[in-house]
Order: sequence, then structure tokens, then C-alpha cells
Amino acid sequence: MRRQRAAPLFLRVYDRRMRRTSSVAVAGALLVTSAWGQSPTGAGQLPAGNGQDIAAAQCTPCHDVGRLVYPGYTREGWQSVIGRMTKLGATVTPEQLPLLTGYLAHAFPERPPPAARIIPGNVRVTFKEWAVATPGAFPHDPLATADGAIWYTGQRASLLGRIDPASGAIREYPTSIPDSGPHGLVADDAGNIWFTANSAGYIGKLDPASGAITAYRMPDERARDPHTAVFDRHGVLWFTVQGANFVGRLVPQTGEVRLAAPPTAHALPYGIVVSSQGVPFFAEFGTNRIGRIDPDTLDVREYVLPNAGSRPRRLGVTSDDAIWYSDYARGYIGRLDPGSGATREWPSPGGAASLPYGITALNDVIWFSESGVRPNTLVRFDPRSEKFQSWAIPSGGGVVRNMMPTRDGRIVLAESGVGKLALAEVQ
Ligand code: HEC
Repeated sequence: MRRQRAAPLFLRVYDRRMRRTSSVAVAGALLVTSAWGQSPTGAGQLPAGNGQDIAAAQCTPCHDVGRLVYPGYTREGWQSVIGRMTKLGATVTPEQLPLLTGYLAHAFPERPPPAARIIPGNVRVTFKEWAVATPGAFPHDPLATADGAIWYTGQRASLLGRIDPASGAIREYPTSIPDSGPHGLVADDAGNIWFTANSAGYIGKLDPASGAITAYRMPDERARDPHTAVFDRHGVLWFTVQGANFVGRLVPQTGEVRLAAPPTAHALPYGIVVSSQGVPFFAEFGTNRIGRIDPDTLDVREYVLPNAGSRPRRLGVTSDDAIWYSDYARGYIGRLDPGSGATREWPSPGGAASLPYGITALNDVIWFSESGVRPNTLVRFDPRSEKFQSWAIPSGGGVVRNMMPTRDGRIVLAESGVGKLALAEVQ
């Protein structure tokens, strides 16, 4: 465990330009890369090899090399990643494709994940799991609603699903716009289900009674990949747009959508939470920063985390308004005090390659999942005792990308790669 204090509190909003020239962006990526070289994950610069130049030109402008290292892929796996990246804006010619695929498969092979490290303790957790109705739907985000149901986004099948935990009955709702890539998932007070259409540049509202979906388009066509969303206490929806580097606000009453760019280019805005004061905070997965959105002006201020290699992915917030982050790249969890800017960090039990990902706070205790270990774990961290306890997820987890508490003190988890949802009972 370490005690760390961040020296400068905020980076002022010094750069309102949305995009910089690509040469500046590449230089930035290389700078970050050298920081990665010192990180405990061992993620360094692109290894030499036939195809390295293509990877350098096409694969590191938007994110650093670290993004390529874990979990690694086979040739087929890399081919499908390149396909997805091409949709996001990478330009790989048909001639370059075999060379790049071969290079990536050689440089970043699929590697066996480290075994989970299970920490015993006094808390009892039991899991219930349900397979989603459409195989391969890739449940990305879970949502526990006030009526006791569990919802999920089926990202790869472009649908939303609702599980009735009592009966096990499942109803799926296909999106009216095909290939929407539903991703983030939240409910409003009236029981409507809202999702980010990560592949189709809109935010959707599903009326579960009729199955009708209303699409709220982004006001800027560059904002093509809305990512994670959260409601504040006034019923205003705040969201991140990862690859396009925006955060945004949607007012349901008027349908108005506003976007703002963080000061850092390619910050990859990711997880987002709202403090008790109604202030949205978001993780900048492309760098070692956490952003704070002014709810009135939408100006973004950034807190710099002490380790240059940190890549905060998702956030939780406790009743003291501390912001908790999963540091995916370094295998840590951390606590940011937004008042003083001070941070503290603790190594996750599974170590540097454990890839902590989905995280949440339940009764001021932190829960998260290690997505890099086999099986994935559910980890409990008590901020008072600073002690960890962990459990193996029965299905293996298949990368738990997000989790949230239910009203009655349980936790729902989406197990993307194994196509399941889980409910963790805590005693
Ligand atoms: C135009 C920006 C852009 C470019 C260029 C780009 N990426 Fe990405 N990449 C993203 C974004 C945004 C994400 C996060 C979305 C996601 O996870 O699908 C991402 C995520 C990833 C991931 C993690 C998700 C996964 O499926 O494992 C990998 C690996 C990856 N990119 C590899 C590559 C490779 C290889 C290239 C070069 C062919 C590349 N990227 C080029 C924007 C880009």
C-alpha cells in the first residue's frame, strides 16, 4: 500500500481545440508509451518485426501500445480486432492486412491469464448466474432496476435484455436501428431504460411496456461512440464518448444534447459517476487522469494520478464523495479525494496483470472484478480496514466489464465473454 499526494490540483482548461494534428497526437502517444515501459505490466514500445511500421502508423495514434498487450489474441482474434478498429477510423489496406495480422499475432500473442488469487475473509458471497437468451450477444453492462429485474446490453446482437430473477424468464428487445452496439445502460425514475449506442452514435430510450425506442442523436457527427451513461439526481443524463473524446449531457425533458471535450487529446473518456453534489466525474482511460465536469458550463478539469502508467477505466463513488478507480493497466485500485486532489492506491490481489475493470461502491465498501485472471474474481475492499477479500466467479466471468449494486444490497455483474449475468448475494 502507498500513500501518495498529487501535487498540482487541476490542469486548467487550456486547450479548447477538439483535435490536434496527427503528428502531435503520435508524439503524445510515444510519450505515454515510454511511461508504459516503466510500468509493472511490462508493456513497452512496439517490438521490432515485419509490420511494426504499419502498427506504429495505424494502431497507436488513438491509444498506446499498452492497449495491445493484454490479453493478446490469435491471428483470427487480431483480424477481428483490426476489423473493429477500421470501423473506428484506422486505415489498413487489404495489402497491409496479412502483414499486420501476422505481426500482431507474433508480437502480442494470446497468453494464458494468471490464476486468480483468492483472499479468504469473513464475508459470505454466493452467486446466481443466468445465460442470456441470444448466444454470443456479449452482455456488456448490467442494470438492476427498482422492480428487482436485471437488464443487460447485448452489444454484439444489438439488443437489450431483461431477466426476471424470480422466474428466470428473459425478454429481449432488439434495437430498432440495426448494429447499434448497445453498451452503457441506466434507468430513469419512470422506468425507461436508456442505453448508449456505441456503434451508431446515439443514445436510446426504451419504453419496456411498448418496446419502442427513441434515438437521441449526437449533435456532432464525430461523436460516433457514446460509451457509458449515468443519471444525476435531477434526471439529467451524463455520458462519455470514448474514441471521439467527448463527454456529454442529455436533458430528457427537452432532448437537448451538449458535448464538451476534455483538455487532453485522446483521453478516451470511459467510466462515469455523479457525486452527491451532482458533479460528474469520469475516467480518462487513455491517460492517467480523472476528469470533473462542471454541471453548468460543462468545462472539464483534470486530476492527474501520480503514476504515469495508470489507466483508470471505471469509477465508483462513496458517501464521502471520494472517487474510486480501477487502474486497469497497473493492477491497482485507487481513491481520489476531489477536494484536495490527494490519491491513495492499493495493489489488487491478483497482481500487476490482474486488469481490474468493473468497480462499484456498496454501503461504502468497494467491489470490483479482476478481468485478467482466470477465473475472473469478485473482490471486496473495505476502505476502513484496508483489507481485501475475493471470490472466484463460478462461470469464469469472461471479463466483467461493469457491475452495480441492487437496491437491497446485492451486486449484479455482466459476464460478457461467457454470455451470462450474475447476481452476487452478500452476507
Ligand atoms: C481511430 C482511433 C483508433 C485507431 C487508429 C485504433 N484504435 Fe484500437 N481502439 C480504439 C478505441 C476507441 C477503442 C475502445 C473501443 C473498443 O474497445 O472496441 C480501441 C480498443 C482497442 C483494443 C482493446 C479492445 C479489444 O478488443 O481487445 C485493442 C486490442 C485495439 N484497440 C487494437 C488496435 C489495433 C491493433 C489498431 C491498429 C490496426 C488500432 N487499435 C487502431 C481506437 C482506435
